[in-house]
Amino acid sequence: MRLIVAITGASGVGLGKRFVDALPPEIETCLILSDNARTVFEKEHSSDTMRIFDNDDIAAPVASGSFRCDAMAIIPTSMNTLAKIACGIADNLTTRAAAVQIKEQRKLLLAPREMPFSPISLENMLKLARLQIIIAPPVPGYYAGIETLEQMEDFMIGKWFDLLGIEHTLFQRWGER
Ligand SMILES: Cc1cc2nc3c(=O)[nH]c(=O)nc-3n(C[C@H](O)[C@H](O)[C@H](O)COP(=O)(O)O)c2cc1C
Repeated sequence: MRLIVAITGASGVGLGKRFVDALPPEIETCLILSDNARTVFEKEHSSDTMRIFDNDDIAAPVASGSFRCDAMAIIPTSMNTLAKIACGIADNLTTRAAAVQIKEQRKLLLAPREMPFSPISLENMLKLARLQIIIAPPVPGYYAGIETLEQMEDFMIGKWFDLLGIEHTLFQRWGER
C-alpha cells in the first residue's frame, strides 16, 4: 500500500507523528511536513519506506495525479487547510495533494482538530463528507479500557487505520478480548 500523510498546524501535531510511527513498515509512505516538523522528523525517524517532502515543494511527485497512491490522511487537519480543501484551493503540497485525491476519486481522510467547530468549519466538513471524504476528528472512545493518554491516542490512530484499511492491534475491539 502507498499512503500520503500530511501534518498541518493544528493542535495535536504529535498525534500525527505517532500515527506515522505506528504505520506498518510495509506501507510506502510519502510524508508532507512544514520546515519545523521536518527537522524533528529527520532527527527522530528514519525508514526505508518513507519519503519526506516540504509543504512548499509543489513540484513533488504527490502533487501530480499521475503519482499512484492508495490513500491520503491529514492528521491533524487545521480549519485553515480544511477550508482550502473545501474551496479547491491548492496553494501548498498538502492542499494540492488533497485536491489531486479528490479529482482522481481516491481515498482522503481528514482529522479536523478544533474545539468548538464554527458553523463555517462544519459546513466545510459536510461539503467534503458529501464528496465521500472521510471526516474523522481525533475523538476518543471510552469503551476500550483506556487508562492513559497514550492508549487514547492509540485508539484514535487505530480508528484511522481501520478507515484506511490498515491492519492493527492498537486497541481492544468491543466484544473481543
Ligand atoms: C499553538 C497553536 C495551536 C493551534 N491549534 C489549532 C487547532 O487546534 N486547530 C486549528 O484549526 N488551528 C490551530 N492553530 C492555528 C493554525 O496553526 C493556523 O490557522 C495556521 O494558519 C494553519 O496553517 P496550515 O493549515 O497551513 O497548517 C493553532 C496555532 C497555534 C500557534
